[in-house]
Amino acid sequence: MKVFITSKIHNNGLELFSQAGIDIEVWDKEKQGILTREKMIEKAKQVDGLVTLLADQINADFLEQCRHLKIIANYAVGYNNIDYIKAKELGITVTNTPDVLTEATAEGTVALILATIRNFRAAQHLIDEGKWTRFESMLLLGTELKGKTLGMIGLGRIGARVAEICEQGFGMKVLYMNRSGKSSFAKSTFKAATFDEILAQADIVSVLCPLNNESKNLFNEKAFKKMKPTAYFINSARGEIHDEKALYEALRDGTIAGAGLDVYNPEPIKMDSPLFKLPNIYLTPHIASATHEARSAMTKVVATNIIRVFNKQDALTKVN
Ligand code: DGY
Repeated sequence: MKVFITSKIHNNGLELFSQAGIDIEVWDKEKQGILTREKMIEKAKQVDGLVTLLADQINADFLEQCRHLKIIANYAVGYNNIDYIKAKELGITVTNTPDVLTEATAEGTVALILATIRNFRAAQHLIDEGKWTRFESMLLLGTELKGKTLGMIGLGRIGARVAEICEQGFGMKVLYMNRSGKSSFAKSTFKAATFDEILAQADIVSVLCPLNNESKNLFNEKAFKKMKPTAYFINSARGEIHDEKALYEALRDGTIAGAGLDVYNPEPIKMDSPLFKLPNIYLTPHIASATHEARSAMTKVVATNIIRVFNKQDALTKVN
């Protein structure tokens, strides 16, 4: 059995493949260049299983050409890059990597919240540009979290962990909105609310829901206008959940106070994006889940799922 991995992933856990007698080929962008779609299809045709990253678009056409695949193991908790319904029709198992990146992504999100509300981007620029001359009592004043309201958009594992850290660690109140109504991850102190209630009341709006038809462009001009002018927008889920032009205008015009982004629309962010010119923003390159602990555990999950499917057992984290 053979597996093609579309990009380098954490080495810890790769030994599971050889132990199970499975050959792997890992695409090395540094040495081989960008993996084109044609090349990915060519490689996929030679193997039984595929490990994909969220930048790999696995659509119906790709799946039709690679019907023989037994499994596509996505190296992410989100799987909006894969037409998993079509894959099911064709009998291809699709898996993701939940749980093992919950802590990393929650901590990354909290870091993004803090960096945003304490003006770390503007502060870093001041230092980098040699413009900081002495202590100033009114320099780059931020805001505090204690007693403020966190509005969680999505309360799955990661959203709930962010809410718990913010409630217990910073004394915040938590409002949340979840697609399926009440979330099974909610604590009794978290309050379910409507989208409009969250926009009207939250000081920090944190997006951690999956990208789907309901969440696509949820944060548009209308939504930003309903937020408090003192509120911050934090997106560490998927860029397509916000309209980037509307977000830029809301930040430029003071409709909201600031934003922290780990994800972009489009992604990656274009170098001529006007967002770079804003002082009230903090930007990271889709790294909320990027820790050694999470990435090595993710490798183990994809390897385990593939081995199980090759052995005709159920995958541990099947999404279709
Ligand atoms: C995920 O897992 O969906 C993250 O966005 C990338 O690791």
